[in-house]
Amino acid sequence: MTNLLDRAIVRLLPAVPRPVVRRIANRYVAGPRLPDACRVVRQLNTAGKLTTIDVLGEEITRREDSLAIVEAYADVSEAIRRERLDSNLSVKLTALGLKLDYQFCVENMESVLEHADEFVRIDMEDSTCTDDTLSLYRELRLRGQDSVGIVLQACLRRTLEDIEALRDLTPNVRLCKGIYVEPREIAFQGPDEVRENFVAALDLLLEHGSYVGIATHDEWLIEESLRLLERHGRSSREYEFQMLLGVRTARATELVAAGHRLRVYVPFGERWYAYSLRRLQENPKIAGYIASDTIGRLVPGHNGRR
Ligand code: FDA
Repeated sequence: MTNLLDRAIVRLLPAVPRPVVRRIANRYVAGPRLPDACRVVRQLNTAGKLTTIDVLGEEITRREDSLAIVEAYADVSEAIRRERLDSNLSVKLTALGLKLDYQFCVENMESVLEHADEFVRIDMEDSTCTDDTLSLYRELRLRGQDSVGIVLQACLRRTLEDIEALRDLTPNVRLCKGIYVEPREIAFQGPDEVRENFVAALDLLLEHGSYVGIATHDEWLIEESLRLLERHGRSSREYEFQMLLGVRTARATELVAAGHRLRVYVPFGERWYAYSLRRLQENPKIAGYIASDTIGRLVPGHNGRR
């Protein structure tokens, strides 16, 4: 259970100096450049793990920045082909300009898809993006783009209705709890309610025949998911587990050894801050990391050299 100190630190994290955040969040991000991502993906592939590569860039406010992200994705697709990596792409629509101009974002997404031979997953961001993200996904699918998937968040009260509304598309869905802080009116607040909705959503998606990426590190949910997959008679090619780079690596290895498909989310890029902050905020041992980083710098020789 998160203790008081951890909770206080989570609230104060935005005030922690960026270099400290960078050091302790290193494990969650492959590095600043594409070769960093390729190196990490190669290692994961060698260990039998699939990957999805994310070009970090959600803080975007200018069109030219979105166009640069589109180009960066084209470079990733080219690297995946050239280096024969077993990887998908994960894309945030705000990075492609969703908040600037919906149509501009559609064109950018089409451009990403045009360059990609691999499957492309549209990440789900905060609730101000949900409607536009789902409409854009539907639009792409109706235009015949089938190698594209969506994310649904178990914390949102609307999610079961969204699954019903998407039924005609038999969507490929990544199901996660949802990381964004949302108001009580639209989102479950208690961890048990979120878990319960996750299980209900997974059950419904499996019933509708969707391929599901079960994205969680929560042991209780992993076990419940395994039970549901068995009850629905799913073979190991008809679903996958997904985890974030740097989180529960040993458990991921166990799932692979047990014959499950397991995909690791590999983010890279210069715009690492917002993503890293979210990862640190959900790390239950955050206080310990910050303390050991600080002690490591104050006491020479402690905690390794940097
Ligand atoms: P929970 O947070 O309860 O974690 C369970 C356990 O995992 C913890 O007790 C701890 O042991 C470990 N753990 C979790 N996070 C950790 C961390 N950062 N550092 C160290 N240990 C940690 N969200 C979203 O809103 N939109 C999206 O598109 C995505 N995409 C996405 C892709 C993938 C592959 C994953 C795994 C997750 C996402 N998420 C996401 C994030 C998701 O919504 C959720 O916030 C996190 O997965 C944390 O929730 P868990 O289900 O892991 O449970």
